[in-house]
Amino acid sequence: MPNQRPELARAQSFCVAHGLRVPILLAPMAGACPPALSIAVANAGGLGACGALLMQPAAIKAWAADARAGGNGAFQINLWIPDPPPVRDPAAEASTRAFLATWGPDVPPEAGDATPPDFTAQCEAVLEAGPPIISSIMGLYPAEFVARMKARGVRWFATVTTVSEAIAARDAGADAIVAQGMEAGGHRGAFDAATAETGMAGLFALLPAVVDAVDIPVIAAGGIADARGIAAALILGASAVQIGTGFLRTPEAQIPPPWADAIGRAQPEQTMVTRAFSGRAGRGIATEYARAAAASGAPPPAPYPVQRALTQRMRDAAVKNHDIHRMQAWAGQSARMARAEPAADVVRVLWHGAMDLLR
Ligand SMILES: Cc1cc2nc3c(=O)[nH]c(=O)nc-3n(C[C@H](O)[C@H](O)[C@H](O)COP(=O)(O)O)c2cc1C
Repeated sequence: MPNQRPELARAQSFCVAHGLRVPILLAPMAGACPPALSIAVANAGGLGACGALLMQPAAIKAWAADARAGGNGAFQINLWIPDPPPVRDPAAEASTRAFLATWGPDVPPEAGDATPPDFTAQCEAVLEAGPPIISSIMGLYPAEFVARMKARGVRWFATVTTVSEAIAARDAGADAIVAQGMEAGGHRGAFDAATAETGMAGLFALLPAVVDAVDIPVIAAGGIADARGIAAALILGASAVQIGTGFLRTPEAQIPPPWADAIGRAQPEQTMVTRAFSGRAGRGIATEYARAAAASGAPPPAPYPVQRALTQRMRDAAVKNHDIHRMQAWAGQSARMARAEPAADVVRVLWHGAMDLLR
């Protein structure tokens, strides 16, 4: 990697610190990060990722073993920091269930009781899986867990959506900050669920502000899907970029074809931030369900993770029926740029293009 420009020198020192050849990180994407995708990105010189939110401990360890067997071991494992337990409102949930029954199968009252895997057990499994990097979103790991990570030489990448979250993460011991702009596909990483939609900063404003506020490497995420975005992020002070939607059309991602096709067509304004799938704000394709759920008169979504559990039947039926309009189709604002090519080619084309722009 040539290092005559400060942007490239910064990226190169990040790569050296983490054993990478290319400063491109696959974004951790819960439900959309099979080992094959990470293996392809890591073998092309970038960093693989496992979004372990929905995985039980045994599945987390199996993922790491598979990723190591096929690749070079360069990957991060990511967990969501749990929100406080949701306040349940049976009457409101009944309205939401009635609304959902017009979009998919009936939703029984107990559907909202389903809970995600136990966070403490997931943390233990992640440590046992032994990745070089553990990342967080939606908050900060407890100090005791951070100390155990550090004792094993594991680095902590903390996702933030504001400058104050970045400072809190730095103070809590993060080794690098992932600055997630509002363009990003999937859930917004706001520490406080209630501010996820009001505190929306775009990456062009957030990234240099975070770089100026903290003295540790910053990784840019949100709406980066081509060489121009990578070059711009490095010029704005990033040490590396993290790309999610830009890898979702690769064959290794194996997402349902209607979702991949919709990503390839979506202009920025054809995505929207919605709580209607999980109860936590996330950006996806502005499908008929997402738009109807935001219309006046629609019942407000239940808090996370209750809404996720309530929408499960509709989402499962949508995948079976190839129905994009009821699917949970996360996508960032640069979706249209996502390439339907093998992930290794995506890494190569994007990085070579960025280097050409920065020469
Ligand atoms: C399908 C999908 C699932 C995601 N799941 C997670 C997750 O589990 N943990 C996490 O930290 N970020 C998650 N994200 C957010 C990404 O880490 C990243 O911030 C985002 O993809 C960057 O924006 P882009 O999609 O425009 O590249 C997800 C994103 C997508 C598209």
